[in-house]
Amino acid sequence: MIRSALMNVMTAAAMKAGRGLKRDFGEVENLQVSVKGPGDFVTAADRRAEKTLFEELSRARPGYCFLMEESGAVEGADKSHVWHIDPLDGTSNFLHGIPIFAVSVALERDGQIVAGLVYNPASDDLYVAEKGQGAFHNNRRMRVAARRTLAESMVACGIPPLAGLAHHARFQVELAAVMAKVGNIRRLGAAALDLAMVASGRCDGYWERGIQTWDIAAGVILVKEAGGFVTDLSGGPDMLTKSEICAGNEAIHRQLLDLLRKA
Ligand code: IPD
Ligand code: CA
Repeated sequence: MIRSALMNVMTAAAMKAGRGLKRDFGEVENLQVSVKGPGDFVTAADRRAEKTLFEELSRARPGYCFLMEESGAVEGADKSHVWHIDPLDGTSNFLHGIPIFAVSVALERDGQIVAGLVYNPASDDLYVAEKGQGAFHNNRRMRVAARRTLAESMVACGIPPLAGLAHHARFQVELAAVMAKVGNIRRLGAAALDLAMVASGRCDGYWERGIQTWDIAAGVILVKEAGGFVTDLSGGPDMLTKSEICAGNEAIHRQLLDLLRKA
């Protein structure tokens, strides 16, 4: 397992935010049946978790910059360090009482992601990785799956929501191409956990378009440190800036990318 000072700081902050989210998740179930619904409550829970992460990480590492889903960019004196934070990835799941959501925290140093953490407070699953130190799930070393053929693979994806109507047609073409070749497809609803599933060998591949840096920055290093491959959809290294991603073990990543390129 990783016992660095940096990972201790990240874990403590994520656990604190996670405790709040877990409490709030319990409340969501009550609000589900109320007339008003849980919408505003979930927005507040999301913001509270982000505030906790911001405060804890600022205290432990003063001056670092932030890029957060809710509050956007916050400049710090130390421009060489940027925290990429999604306090609640899987917001729709959370809203609907589905326990598949996560806190996602990554640290960029001099333009490179050097550490990542994904924590699902509902299941108490913690996934961490640091550059050159490997990747771990609840303190056990993670490796990507060894499966090599698409036919036996389980592939995760992201589906554009109603608000992303303009992207539906393209997704349907890609889905048809992938569906025709892979064993099974999943849509978990939390990109950080999709990548954690690839890193831990449960899923063999994952692709998505229209994804943001805070959704995937932590998951990317999890997959890489677990021995997997992560690229944009052209096979290049720009998944964080191009808002598109393809991940997997070496064999499945290559074949999935090929299917998507030809779709
Ligand atoms: C979303 C989830 C989802 C992905 C979307 C993201 P949010 O993040 O990661 O799986 O398909 O593109 O926006 O809104 O739940 O934080
Ligand atoms: Ca997200």
